[in-house]
Amino acid sequence: MSNFADAAGGPSVAELKKQTEGSGERRRSSVTTEKVKLNSGHYIPQVALGVYKAPNDNTTEDAVKWAFEAGYRHVDSAARYANEEAVGRAIKDFLKSSKVQREELFVTTKLWDADHERAAEAIDESLKKLDLTYIDLFLVHSPGNLGEEARLKAWKDMEAAVDAGKIKSIGVSNFDIEELDHLLANCRIKPAVNQIESHPFFAHEDLREATIARGIHVQAYSPMAQGAALERPEIKAIADKHGKSPAQVLLRWGLQIGNIILPKSLTQSRIEANAELFDFELDKDDMEVLNGLDEGMKMGKLGPAGTSAPGSRRSSNSGGAAGNKLQMTSS
Ligand SMILES: NC(=O)c1ccc[n+]([C@@H]2O[C@H](COP(=O)([O-])OP(=O)(O)OC[C@H]3O[C@@H](n4cnc5c(N)ncnc54)[C@H](OP(=O)(O)O)[C@@H]3O)[C@@H](O)[C@H]2O)c1
Repeated sequence: MSNFADAAGGPSVAELKKQTEGSGERRRSSVTTEKVKLNSGHYIPQVALGVYKAPNDNTTEDAVKWAFEAGYRHVDSAARYANEEAVGRAIKDFLKSSKVQREELFVTTKLWDADHERAAEAIDESLKKLDLTYIDLFLVHSPGNLGEEARLKAWKDMEAAVDAGKIKSIGVSNFDIEELDHLLANCRIKPAVNQIESHPFFAHEDLREATIARGIHVQAYSPMAQGAALERPEIKAIADKHGKSPAQVLLRWGLQIGNIILPKSLTQSRIEANAELFDFELDKDDMEVLNGLDEGMKMGKLGPAGTSAPGSRRSSNSGGAAGNKLQMTSS
């Protein structure tokens, strides 16, 4: 396979691997400053507030504002979440009431499946709802079911929106390896990220590795497994050892394997706690325990089923594909 990362003028695969392996050489300081460089040349904060299942009202406005006040600079929304207006209002208020500039914020939204054949219009609609002059990262939410031709048309519209200055970086979500390769073979601007489910109980290591090998960053959704396994004794033991919460342990694991993480909460205390990830480090033993928890516990119904491949982080006695029996379909 050709070296897509180098061909795109972005970081080399070696550089990307180094970044995504949580190299000790990188200074980890805070939710505000911790960023990674995408193959588009733009920097993305490694922690975002996710706003899935957040209403289009002041609940979400408050959550986004609390996040900005806690130091987050990145919000992950989607046309499908129907809350872009609330996110836009929170951004406007925060920019007015703080010294932070628009360029310091990073706003992600996504093209819904039904809109692949009308992506140009959908991009303008998202810009209008967010009340922004540009979107930092715009993703194809999922491969959808309109077919490859519609997906490539959407991508061409997204490339044109980059040319027009409406979008800084473009990427995909829930793409499997074949879908990524089809896009890479037919695109002018390569995807900067693949946003997929990833947490210790469903690390998605096969797809993570394939994505990184293509010079594309992994964004991890449901990084706390939607709160479904926070009481697990293995997690609690690591949390107690570091004086942190189980949620912080799951999030820190995501950071240390190089994921860009998108923890969602509408609760102020949790939003604040979910950003406090830079004052501790999981050691080799902790990582080994967490890497052994992959049971194929996929929470969302979008995206490839993706059992972990041989050589993955899954421990040898963790139940193999049978773990997928635990699959839940809550998103
Ligand atoms: N591209 C895609 O297809 C896709 C799919 C799913 C998600 N996403 C993105 O990823 C984001 C995160 O994923 P997610 O919402 O599925 O799951 P998540 O972030 O793993 O978990 C969210 C759940 O955990 C709870 N929670 C948050 N912080 C907590 C804490 N410190 N302790 C205990 N519970 C806590 C939240 O409740 P409260 O809100 O009540 O605090 C919420 O119920 C989404 O918001 C969205 O932006 C993308």
